[in-house]
Amino acid sequence: MAKERTLAIIKPDAVARGLHGDILSRIHEAGFQIVAIESRRLTKEEAEGFYAVHRGKPFFGDLTSFMSSGKVVILALEADGAISRWRELMGATDPAKAAPNTLRKLYGTSIQNNCTHGSDAPETAAFELSYFFSGRQLI
Ligand code: CMP
Repeated sequence: MAKERTLAIIKPDAVARGLHGDILSRIHEAGFQIVAIESRRLTKEEAEGFYAVHRGKPFFGDLTSFMSSGKVVILALEADGAISRWRELMGATDPAKAAPNTLRKLYGTSIQNNCTHGSDAPETAAFELSYFFSGRQLI
């Protein structure tokens, strides 16, 4: 499997409950390298730009309000097959449908408040990594 990078976000619901330490431990145990990390609150406009692909969907307004409602932890993760491996560790988007012991099964409470985000393909990963991190941060 080729070495890849993916963009991960620990969402406001998880950070507000102090779950980011546990989630970072799982990231470490799973063998990801943390290339870049930042904790801060997004503006509504930043969240809208990040989720631009979902603009027009019924959940867009609520999603972007939620994502700008409190601090998030934004990560650039590197591993062999990082994109699919991070998605496996997160579990299905809807926590009710996520596999046992995945992050969303353990910590997610709804399809919106699902504790983590991950890029879904190499093209999305490239866009999402560059949305939050500069080339210098990703060296
Ligand atoms: P995420 O992986 O961050 O990508 C888009 C987000 O939209 C998704 O996780 C969910 O948190 C949120 N969302 C809210 N409602 C829906 C829905 N009905 N279908 C898919 N995603 C949804």
